[in-house]
Amino acid sequence: MPDPILVVAGSERHDLTGRRFVFANAAARELLRITAEEGMLLSAIRDPEVLGAVDRALFDLADAEVVYETTGAQSRSLRVRARPLAPAADGARLALLTFHDETEVRRVERTRVDFLANASHELRTPLASLSGFIETLRGHAKDDPAAREKFLGIMQAQADRMARLIADLTSLSRIELDEHVPPRGVVDLAPLVGEVVEAATPLGAQRGVKLDWRPCAACSVSVRGERDQIVQVVQNLLDNAIKYSPDGASVRIEMQSGLTDTAAAGVSTDIIPRLSLVAPDPSSETYAVLRFTDLGPGIARQNLPRLSERFYRVDGQKSAARSGTGLGLAIVKHIMNRHRGGLVVASAEGEGSTFSAYFPVAGAPEAVVKAS
Ligand SMILES: Nc1ncnc2c1ncn2[C@@H]1O[C@H](COP(=O)(O)OP(=O)(O)OP(=O)(O)O)[C@@H](O)[C@H]1O
Ligand SMILES: [Mg+2]
Repeated sequence: MPDPILVVAGSERHDLTGRRFVFANAAARELLRITAEEGMLLSAIRDPEVLGAVDRALFDLADAEVVYETTGAQSRSLRVRARPLAPAADGARLALLTFHDETEVRRVERTRVDFLANASHELRTPLASLSGFIETLRGHAKDDPAAREKFLGIMQAQADRMARLIADLTSLSRIELDEHVPPRGVVDLAPLVGEVVEAATPLGAQRGVKLDWRPCAACSVSVRGERDQIVQVVQNLLDNAIKYSPDGASVRIEMQSGLTDTAAAGVSTDIIPRLSLVAPDPSSETYAVLRFTDLGPGIARQNLPRLSERFYRVDGQKSAARSGTGLGLAIVKHIMNRHRGGLVVASAEGEGSTFSAYFPVAGAPEAVVKAS
């Protein structure tokens, strides 16, 4: 059985330590971190609600159902069902305990609720503006070609914004859905970054922003990942660096490999305020990092923790030239989580910003040696 199952025995209602599990399948042993198939129940489960359900099945001979939340890094929610069984040969009362993992179902449900709430909120503004202009075009602007042209231009921009918003939201919810599925592919970082930088060069040129791409010396660094998603990370961080750069400044994109997680999280600049937005999986030993440094307005220390929230944008940066939906970094955060990598921002007001995204290097040790 893939679901954890436990058979519990007990004789006395008041003898808590007398409750024993007399059978635990492999899934139950893994879930409750027990090694034996038999033992004291309290050594396996201490949750009062679950123990209460066991008692109802053992002594009231009634079915019981509770939700059990495990703690720790990988917290799960499990629906626990307790059913009375026929007594054992020695007269002990028996109950069957089944655990059904509902973590995914709950997470998906929460994602869906958040998604709908945020999406409708964000779509309302451009939609209201569209309706307003339609009304104006039907009314007093009807016979004014100049006004009509202007309003149609604004309407087009609002419609484009809605389309982008929907594309970003869909992308975000898709990424969230498979956040717990480790990426399968192996991606060579340097050519990928090179391509994205090249594609963004015209965008930078429009604002006189130069892109200074510095691949590392030995640039065959493969990381475990999904190519399209890593492209999204690079695109979003580069897009922000360009967008928030002053006209004519340059954006530096650096790559390094063979680093420990602490070294990957560190930054080469002197900017002190620094915050980890995504912590890497500690089981990995070697990381490759991509750093995006701009000379833009920077971000005040108190705003750093909110950066990867959906729809969050720093006040005072919401000008037309810096349009956006505030979803870019939320997307980056979920992708980095899925890749078991890290994301660190180092920034101070007036000092520019450095965003570092680092990935566990894929299994080939020679790639690590070459790059270090
Ligand atoms: N390099 C940066 N310099 C200064 N502020 C930044 C930088 N990157 C992000 N921010 C701040 O963080 C906010 C969130 O960034 P995010 O990329 O999520 O959204 P956005 O760029 O506004 O919109 P989108 O990426 O969805 O087009 C931005 O609105 C901006 O206020
Ligand atoms: Mg952005």
